[in-house]
Amino acid sequence: MTPRYAVFGQPIAHSLSPRIHAMFGAQFDIAIDYRAIETSRAGFAAALDAFARDGGLGANVTLPLKEDAFALSIDATERARRCGSVNTLIRSGQSWRGDSTDGIGLLRDLRLRLGFDVATQRCILLGAGGAARAVAFALVDAGAANVTIANRTSERARALASAIGNPARVDVLAWDALAVEPAFDLVIDATSAGHAGAALDLPQTLVSAHSVCYDLSYGSAAAPFLAWARETGVARASDGLGMLVEQAAESFAIWHGKTPDTNAIYDALRAGIG
Ligand code: ATR
Repeated sequence: MTPRYAVFGQPIAHSLSPRIHAMFGAQFDIAIDYRAIETSRAGFAAALDAFARDGGLGANVTLPLKEDAFALSIDATERARRCGSVNTLIRSGQSWRGDSTDGIGLLRDLRLRLGFDVATQRCILLGAGGAARAVAFALVDAGAANVTIANRTSERARALASAIGNPARVDVLAWDALAVEPAFDLVIDATSAGHAGAALDLPQTLVSAHSVCYDLSYGSAAAPFLAWARETGVARASDGLGMLVEQAAESFAIWHGKTPDTNAIYDALRAGIG
């Protein structure tokens, strides 16, 4: 049976992952059968079983299925267990093992393309939903001096902070009290506001000229936050395209034991997205 790979999510039709994995495979002369499979949360377990029966050896998982993927994993890596979220499934005998490559994907993109090392930096995370979760743990694990979580609904921010359980380095800021000083070194937009075309109402005091602004989304969903960041005059602002490519590279390395060169693929996708 041909080994098969896939990304599961809903919606999934516009996912770039099949293209990314095909381009990674081409670097090593591996023909990759990697498809996008749309499934609801209710249908996910059955879809994953059917995929395994058809020769599925590995899967990526995106919204809204990452917590379900964690629950369906018989065993998970430390980094996936900590954040309770799985974006990479690896077939192991008759079961799935889970991993989370989102956090490392963000850290690598920040380092490689923005020259930003999180260690000892003051970071603020806007949002406390599924997208924020893996990122919050990764920032703390990478040695950020401080991670402030601000969410429109403060209870969710408090719940995420207490799940991380590091009160010395993680705090919560009320959404209507964002005008604090000094400015943050890294401002991450992990909200879904941009997907609805909405701009967040953010105070300029969040950033100084040396700050880095990063949106976990890419394309039009990232546009309102990046427009705000550029208006404030920050030197470095980016969408999450590089994070997408880097998390995919980590998944590819887990499945195939080979680490792809991400820069050529990033450039090709960037040329298409702008
Ligand atoms: P995802 O998995 O993409 O993170 P989610 O779990 O639904 O999706 O979380 C969406 C995040 O964006 C939440 O932090 C949400 O804030 P609430 O918890 O208060 O809902 C945030 N969000 C969405 N629209 C927003 C807006 N217009 N302003 C501020 N925050 C917004």
